[in-house]
Formats: sequence, structure tokens, C-alpha cells
Amino acid sequence: MRVLVTGGAGYIGSHTCKALARAGHTPIVYDNLRTGHAWAVKWGPFEHGDINDLAGLSDAMRRHRPDAVINFAALAYVGESVARPDLYYQTNVTGMITLMQAMRFHEVKAIVLSSSCATYGVPARVPISEETPQHPINPYGRSKRMAEEVMRDVCAAYGLGGVALRYFNAAGADRDGELGEEHEPETHLIPLVLQAAAGRRADVSIFGSDYDTPDGTCVRDYVHVTDLASAHVAALSKCPPGGFSAYNLGSGRGSSIAEVISCARAVTGKEIVAQHGPRRPGDPPVLVADAARAREGLGWVPVHSDLERVITDAWAWMTIHRARLPAGG
Ligand code: UFG
Repeated sequence: MRVLVTGGAGYIGSHTCKALARAGHTPIVYDNLRTGHAWAVKWGPFEHGDINDLAGLSDAMRRHRPDAVINFAALAYVGESVARPDLYYQTNVTGMITLMQAMRFHEVKAIVLSSSCATYGVPARVPISEETPQHPINPYGRSKRMAEEVMRDVCAAYGLGGVALRYFNAAGADRDGELGEEHEPETHLIPLVLQAAAGRRADVSIFGSDYDTPDGTCVRDYVHVTDLASAHVAALSKCPPGGFSAYNLGSGRGSSIAEVISCARAVTGKEIVAQHGPRRPGDPPVLVADAARAREGLGWVPVHSDLERVITDAWAWMTIHRARLPAGG
């Protein structure tokens, strides 16, 4: 298949392009490089463009004739989404509408959407299945839920097929060292903990130690980015005309912040200074996936998402491979 990957120069998008190429598909990356990286585009053609540019999307589709689209082009900082909600709705929702209009014009029939467990908000029960009501608590989560709704309605109306993949906490890096996480600013726990291990920051703050969890710190479901990538490849063949389906992607295991830090100390052999700070507003105490539907519907089994493996791969990327990147890429 020829697959247009919007946002394909980003963290999860680039790992997915590699998985697509390995499975015999051709990924065509369409990215504005605002948060993505030119060095992460390695497995197919690159088109520089914005998700809100209908003419640009249309031109790329006319020239490359994709069979399917995978949409990663989005803004994804919860805090920023509260401060600048208009930008989030414009990119994540209007962008999705624009993309689907271009797909209609060019008769591209299948789409896979990068969605998030943030669409569930603070769930009443864990683990979280796809039946859990979606009550997002911030503009980022709402924008992803809206993007799913746009996809479902447009697919039903025009006979396209769509799959939404709701990620839990994406982490880790490509085992071959070709790709990894590179955000500016970095806000995610594992890279920040590893920056502290590498001496790039003095310490890491634990946002709240008084939650109703076994050790008082928040519990999350860390899923290896390589496992996420393989789910996108599987989803491409599960887009029947007019259909919409959603799948949770998580390891099904929860790890607390304290456990992440202790595992990172063991993996790196470094002392990591952790400070106890106040809670971060909007953090649910526990988010863990029930990924049974992905197992049954996509045949998806996360095989790399053991916490030690996730941290080992992220550390290798940070210490060895990242140092080789071209400046400013
Ligand atoms: N944390 C710290 N210190 C830090 C950074 C994070 O204690 O310096 C904590 C957070 O409070 C949270 C946990 O570590 O309890 C994980 O935080 P991340 O920021 O790494 O990830 P989140 O769980 O907040 O975010 C993830 C995705 C988002 C998505 C969200 C849904 O990255 O895109 O889940 O809740 F919106």
C-alpha cells in the first residue's frame, strides 16, 4: 500500500513509517516540521505541508495516489491546550476535517487516526476499556474526541473506513537506534528522568506523592513506541467502507512514577535525584489500558512494552544515537 502519513516526521509517526516500510508498504510523509524532524524521515518521500492546507494535501494526494492515510499531525501538550485551545481545535479538529475533505476528492478510502487515552478524562474504573465513557477534562482530550467524531461521521456518510487508536503513555525508542523521542520542550516523565540520569538536568520532580495509589504516586501504562507502530500497520487492513472502530493501545500494566525512577536508576546505573513536588492539575491517579479489543480485532500483542525494556531503549537513544544527529535537524 501507499500510505500518506501526516505528521510522519514526529515521534510515533516516524516509528510507524519504519514499521510500514518493513511490512512492504510505502510511507509518504506529509509534515510541516514544526515539531517533527527532517532526520526522522527515512523510509519514503517527504512532502512539506500543513494539515490545514487543503491545496497542499490535495496536491500530495494527486501526485502520490495513496491507498490510505494515517494521521499523526496534531498538537499534544495538555498544558498548552488549556492556554491556547483555539490552536488545538484548529490543528486537531479542523485539520482532521480538511484532511478528510482531501481524501474524499481523491477517493482515498481508509484512515487511521492517532488518538489518546486523554479522551477518557478521569475514568470511574480501571483498566479502561473502549466502553468507558469519553469525558475528557482538557482541550487536548476534547480535540481528540472531536477528531474521532469527525472521522466516524465522515466515514459513515461517504463510505470511508476509519480506525482510532487511543494510546496510553508512549515511550521508548527504536531498538536499532535509528529513531527516538525528541520534544522541545520535553514534558514527559521518562525522558525527563533520563535527562536527570545523563546530567542534563539536576533532578526530576515527582508531581504529587499523596495519591490513592500503592506508593502515593501516579500510575501510568507505558507502551513501547515500536508496539504502537505495529498497531498502525495492523489497523490499515481493518478499515471497511463506512466503518469506524476504536482500540486502546496499552501494555495493560501500570507503573508508578516511583517505579519508573527506580527502574531508570537500575538501567542507567546513575543516581537520579527526585524531588517531591505538588500535584500537577488534571492528572488522573491511575490510567491503565484494557487492550483486549486490540488483541482480538487487530491481532495486536505488545511485545516490547516491559518497563525495563522501554527505559533501556530510551536510554540508549538518549546517550548514544541522539549525539549523532545533525545540529538543528
Ligand atoms: N510527571 C512527574 N514529573 C514530571 C513529568 C511528569 O511526576 O516532570 C508525572 C505526571 O504528573 C504523570 C506521569 O508522570 O503522573 C506521566 O506524565 P507524562 O507527562 O509523561 O504523561 P501523561 O500521563 O501526563 O500524558 C500522557 C500523554 C498525553 C495524554 C495523557 C493522557 O503523553 O498526550 O497521557 O492523560 F494526553
